[in-house]
Amino acid sequence: MRTLILGANSAIARAVAEILAGKGDELYLASRNYKETKRLASHLNVKYGVKTHAARFDATDYDSHGPFFGQVLKDMGEVDRVLIAFGYLGDQERAIRDFSEARKIIEINYMGAVSILTHIVPYMEERGRGVITAISSVAGDRGRGSNFPYGSAKGALSIYLSGLRNRLHKKGVKVITIKPGFVDTPMTAHLDLPKRLVSRPERVARDIVKAMERGGDEVYTPGYWRLIMAVIKAIPEPIFKRLNLR
Ligand SMILES: NC(=O)c1ccc[n+]([C@@H]2O[C@H](COP(=O)([O-])OP(=O)(O)OC[C@H]3O[C@@H](n4cnc5c(N)ncnc54)[C@H](OP(=O)(O)O)[C@@H]3O)[C@@H](O)[C@H]2O)c1
Repeated sequence: MRTLILGANSAIARAVAEILAGKGDELYLASRNYKETKRLASHLNVKYGVKTHAARFDATDYDSHGPFFGQVLKDMGEVDRVLIAFGYLGDQERAIRDFSEARKIIEINYMGAVSILTHIVPYMEERGRGVITAISSVAGDRGRGSNFPYGSAKGALSIYLSGLRNRLHKKGVKVITIKPGFVDTPMTAHLDLPKRLVSRPERVARDIVKAMERGGDEVYTPGYWRLIMAVIKAIPEPIFKRLNLR
């Protein structure tokens, strides 16, 4: 299998890349920090003997996305699977008062994904097979006072993916939305999260790979987050607004 990973330096993406390399996948790793991506690509090549590529990719450099994907196809021939892993939590308090921070959150989490997908989707549609996987978040399931700027961008991404799945189902292309709960990564390192609900990136990566291989529409990871979010979504708004949920 040939897999393109966007935002490859993320802790979750690295854990996915390790598993896929162990299974013999050819990997195209792309991230903002080219030097680090190149280092990761060489590490996986040496450790697992698989073919790896490294490239620079910035989710908000929209004009570069077309040429970037063209280069991926040139280098790898074909793309069987894509994982969109880049994301930006941002400063939620600042985002409520400062549009430049809100915009950064929306651009990286939502517009960046939509932009690169406009190049990937026609290719996959024409090919008639493939798997598009993107990491959204449980934060996108319901607006919460503590993180709704980030949650709204992930919510928009989840709805986009839901429509895309509906459209591409008939074309043989799978679209998978990954919804992690709290994960112990650099993104959340500064947050005081409930320890029992925090997972390791390796745990989440196993669920992502399983979904890429066996299919799945909306994958909560770990799985118990489906139940937690079902309860959270069921709370009536008049009660929900009085709660102080993280
Ligand atoms: N950690 C959690 O609790 C959690 C929960 C739910 C969902 N998620 C989602 O999981 C995904 C992976 O995040 P993570 O937890 O593994 O955190 P992470 O290690 O901080 O990874 C985030 C990655 O996004 C990349 N990125 C940021 N802005 C970018 C841009 N403009 N263009 C390209 N790449 C960009 C960063 O690249 P640089 O290395 O260049 O900065 C970084 O590698 C994200 O989509 C995140 O929203 C995380």
